[in-house]
Amino acid sequence: MTGDQIVIFDTTLRDGEQSPGCSMNTREKLEVARALVELGVDVIEAGFPIASPGDFDAVSQIAAKFGDRTTICALARSREDDIAKAKGALAAAAKRRIHVFLATSAIHREFKLKMDKSQIIERAISSVKLAKEFCDDIEFSPEDAVRTELDFLCEVVEKTIDAGATTVNIPDTVGYATPSHYFKVISYLKQNVPNISKAIISAHCHDDLGLAVANSLSAVEAGARQVECTINGLGERAGNAALEEIVMAIRTRADYYKVHTKINTQKLYPTSHLVSSITGMKVQRNKAIVGQNAFAHEAGIHQHGVLQERSTYEIMRPEDVGYAGQNLVLGKHSGRHAFRDRVVQLGFSLDDAGLQKAFDDFIALADKKKEVYDSDIVALIENRMDEAADRWKMISFHTSAGTSTIPTATIELQCEDQPIMCDAATGDGPIDAVFKAMERIMELSARLEEFDVRSVSEGKDAQGEVRVTINVNGRHYQGKAVSTDIIDAAAHAYLKALNKADSDRRAPASGATASANA
Ligand code: KIV
Ligand code: ZN
Repeated sequence: MTGDQIVIFDTTLRDGEQSPGCSMNTREKLEVARALVELGVDVIEAGFPIASPGDFDAVSQIAAKFGDRTTICALARSREDDIAKAKGALAAAAKRRIHVFLATSAIHREFKLKMDKSQIIERAISSVKLAKEFCDDIEFSPEDAVRTELDFLCEVVEKTIDAGATTVNIPDTVGYATPSHYFKVISYLKQNVPNISKAIISAHCHDDLGLAVANSLSAVEAGARQVECTINGLGERAGNAALEEIVMAIRTRADYYKVHTKINTQKLYPTSHLVSSITGMKVQRNKAIVGQNAFAHEAGIHQHGVLQERSTYEIMRPEDVGYAGQNLVLGKHSGRHAFRDRVVQLGFSLDDAGLQKAFDDFIALADKKKEVYDSDIVALIENRMDEAADRWKMISFHTSAGTSTIPTATIELQCEDQPIMCDAATGDGPIDAVFKAMERIMELSARLEEFDVRSVSEGKDAQGEVRVTINVNGRHYQGKAVSTDIIDAAAHAYLKALNKADSDRRAPASGATASANA
């Protein structure tokens, strides 16, 4: 291993989840937390417990389930009630951290907090001390640090380290920094805070200028030893620094940075896929590391070079990031064992029942289409992933459409073990009719905000993946499904989204009541 270890602090479930339309329920957060543990992140920021009962519950469950393997962190403003909630939510975790924050920049002091410098210092110290009564591992963030007067920033950092902070995070809250500017801020702290060696300096960058990853790497060069990041760069506005990009930059350029992380890079692609699938936030095709085109060489001259010697045009190997790609998978006669091995290589850990379902789906698909690819397998498994928790299941549907007929759909749905319910509706087209019939049965009224179709692999017989985003009473819900029949995929995707809305209607658990930036 090269040089120091960089602590990878993942905030997908906190800062990432603050991204509009990306909220996750507790079951989904647990699924992402499991993937993050397997990925090997050092700290999982699981949420902001004071924000809502749903957030508190998610942090508590993640703490109970994974807090013996990975440090679980909860966010708190510098307020007694926030810190008390964070303590409550982390109670079951053996490895735990409280992350306390308070804005320090002049703009925030004057307009948001209406506090002067001495009040800020006093509040920061007392909050860190209060959190420290509960656990040793305390992180303090001077929010909007990058726009804070440097000498005042040094004073805050010094006093909070004295009060017990073991990590001092330097957030570029509004994505204002540039790489050389951020380098100077971190260097200044290293040179001017007398007790700085007692804490780890952390980078936390937002991507408003598209510089979050570059800034984070600059901080590492300047001596930061923790980086805060999210899978796929999810996060408020333009997002946070992308974990996969930071990790692969550090690994690929170990010759330059001379540091390393503990991340199992082969899990990067599957984790990215999972987060995209759960949040409904698509990964752009040309996204670095995890985009569909990240390893595709189109130009003949490149293809020729790669065939002769991969390193001519490839700085990373697709297999190093667990890229599923278009590898042709086993055919319909492949056995269960070979299938299971492939599923594990693709980054999934399924129990026996889950594996059996996935295998049955694979055989059914292999009957319908000649060639089954890795991407088909990923899609099939994700298709089933959250199904068990859905109350409403599709029993059957029938559509009729054409140039001289009114598009109509008849649907049968079943809610848990209640009698099957049937209804019909007309629409602009068969898919619209299906959606309307479902809403009638479930007594939910939804507005369709996004509808995307893509082909999962190649060829005319490829599976189609449909993603929908719906708006029910001002809240957004995503659904995704695959099938070789696009109406079937659309129906299942819509039903998944409606199921999420239905579960909120029954137990309105989440929905932030306090903003992390308040
Ligand atoms: O961007 C930011 O300032 C934050 C803090 C809460 C650390 O997310
Ligand atoms: Zn942030």
